[in-house]
Amino acid sequence: MNASVNVLRRGAEAEIRRDTFLGRSVLVKSRVPKPYRHPSLDISLRSHRTRTEARLLQEARECGVPTPIVYDIDLAKAELWMQEVPGPRAKDALEAAGPEEVRTICQEIGRMVARLHSHGMTHGDLTTSNMILHEGRVWFIDLSLGAKAASLEEMGVDMHLLREAFQSAHSDRMYGYDVLAETYARELPIGAAVLAKAKEIEERGRYT
Ligand SMILES: Nc1ncnc2c1ncn2[C@@H]1O[C@H](COP(=O)(O)OP(=O)(O)OP(=O)(O)O)[C@@H](O)[C@H]1O
Ligand SMILES: [Mg+2]
Repeated sequence: MNASVNVLRRGAEAEIRRDTFLGRSVLVKSRVPKPYRHPSLDISLRSHRTRTEARLLQEARECGVPTPIVYDIDLAKAELWMQEVPGPRAKDALEAAGPEEVRTICQEIGRMVARLHSHGMTHGDLTTSNMILHEGRVWFIDLSLGAKAASLEEMGVDMHLLREAFQSAHSDRMYGYDVLAETYARELPIGAAVLAKAKEIEERGRYT
């Protein structure tokens, strides 16, 4: 079958399509070649990000942070075959939610970011577009810029990105970010230090 028929989404870096794997319907995230990059650099970058994403999805899952199951990985094509997580993106759910629901969702986001960080991992592109709400849990996707054995600075960047995401996409729901940060700091022993780092990063950005 022509694979392009099933393309659900075409982003800047990747294309998402539906396919079947061992008789099961799955999502395929395919990193498309970029003509402006040297071909050998291009494939090495695409396969590197694909491998990082597969590893982090798997490791986060082992730590109890919901992420899609990875079924297969094709480094030559820079493709990740994974479970499709049904449900709205946190971004869309937050836009539609009332204050109580915003609080509930944000507590869960704070709890899951704390859990990820407590195992030394970062997400790297932590926005509400990269979270899906499914069965009352927050699932993380798009981990290709994440890190393992992360530094306080990298964790600070995660929290800084998340705050910026609220400022741009949910500026009328900033209390949601406050709930999230409070939960995060309560759940993670170094949480307060990470939030201080995030503030420092924000100020650095403002004055440089
Ligand atoms: N496993 C999944 N289950 C359900 N939806 C998914 C899954 N993976 C990706 N998506 C959907 O596809 C979109 C793009 O995926 P992803 O964030 O991984 O790629 P991206 O490179 O960031 O693309 P973009 O730049 O367009 O956000 C997500 O925002 C989400 O809506
Ligand atoms: Mg994304």
